[in-house]
Amino acid sequence: MNRESLARLSSPKLLKLADQYGTPLYVYDGDLIVKRYKELYEYIQWDKLKILYAMKANYNVGILKLLKMNDAFVDTVSPAEVLLALKLGFTKERILFTANNTTLNEMKAVQETGVLFNIGSLSELEKYGKTFPGSKVCIRFNPDVYAGEHKNVQTAGRITKFGILLSEVNHVLKIVNKYGLKIVGIHEHTGSGIAQTSKFYKSMTNILSIVNRKKFPDLEFVDFGGGFKVSYHPEAHPIDYNAFGKKIGKIFSDFCKRYGKELYMYFEPGKYVVAESGYLLVEVNTIKNNRGRLIAGTNSGFNHLIRPVLYDAYHHIVNLNNPNGKRKIYDICGNICETKDCFAEQREIPVVKEGDKLAIRNAGAYCYSMGSIYNLRPMPSEVLVMDGKEYLTTKQISNEDLADKLITSARAAF
Ligand code: LLP
Repeated sequence: MNRESLARLSSPKLLKLADQYGTPLYVYDGDLIVKRYKELYEYIQWDKLKILYAMKANYNVGILKLLKMNDAFVDTVSPAEVLLALKLGFTKERILFTANNTTLNEMKAVQETGVLFNIGSLSELEKYGKTFPGSKVCIRFNPDVYAGEHKNVQTAGRITKFGILLSEVNHVLKIVNKYGLKIVGIHEHTGSGIAQTSKFYKSMTNILSIVNRKKFPDLEFVDFGGGFKVSYHPEAHPIDYNAFGKKIGKIFSDFCKRYGKELYMYFEPGKYVVAESGYLLVEVNTIKNNRGRLIAGTNSGFNHLIRPVLYDAYHHIVNLNNPNGKRKIYDICGNICETKDCFAEQREIPVVKEGDKLAIRNAGAYCYSMGSIYNLRPMPSEVLVMDGKEYLTTKQISNEDLADKLITSARAAF
């Protein structure tokens, strides 16, 4: 398959945006997001296909609006995600609610919206059935396969809090019958960044093995979750999604023949849709030589992009001011008071001087959305670039406003 290189927004363009909006700054390539979302419909060989964007990866309103304009569906994991999607005009039929450890009050709030629940524990299923008898529901099973690019992003297998064990299927059916629930979907999500496609196929066949028309007479869809891997390293070997899409279509088509009805197939990618579109632009403000170890200190930190710290994730870093210069090895660090606050350790990049701007690539998924204001450093602004035009979708809050907000919210109480 012919995939273009990771870089789509040029270094001069990124430098211009950094000058215009200041750093740290998140920039997203909206055209690439639409391309990635749409191409999954080309790869996956099944007509009754729905791709639900996992909005936890990036809930930027510009990105959500863009996907909505392209007829997207969304997977949500909290009542606020459901609310945001509804407010942006996604209809309830286009939203799935896949939370875990949901309280009764949260259930009531989401049930009122009419959005379908995807339930992954017997306890929640019991509560849901008792409170809303006769409802339609989707059941999340644990497909009993571990996969994902780091142990912290594996969401199935032996030890996980997610999903109902396949061996508990009869218990599920008992609760469903007791409350007259109607199972319209079954769901699995194995992990994030799945490199071995064989694990994907195995998880599909595992969950399909418990399904037949007698036990699940009302099925409308099977949702195989997200987890499509994208290349974070420029030299990584990309997955052949053409071959993958064909194989998936075949597995599902064989299943539907056995089931006796053509069902919808759902997927819920987050990373695949947005990861490559994003850049975090930072500025180097301090160069330190610690007994020969060079440290480039920047004006951002792991509060803005935590993936290297949490998952040892590799994010490619480009020196926008000196993209092709002589190379040296640096620790590229942040401005947070924590020892592990580094975007990259012992990374070879073109020589860096104070004032240079760096672009941290593939920062579109689980970067801004996992950010915080730790150390009271506000989250960066976000700019969405579409068709050569840019839109400031989120403006960084000033230090002054941040301090005032904290004081105002405490004032009522103390
Ligand atoms: N569906 C469900 C139920 C999920 O739990 C997830 C991700 C997805 C879909 C989307 O997975 P994706 O296609 O984005 O891999 N913060 C981690 C990833 C955690 C993913 C958790 N669940 C990271 O930055 O790698």
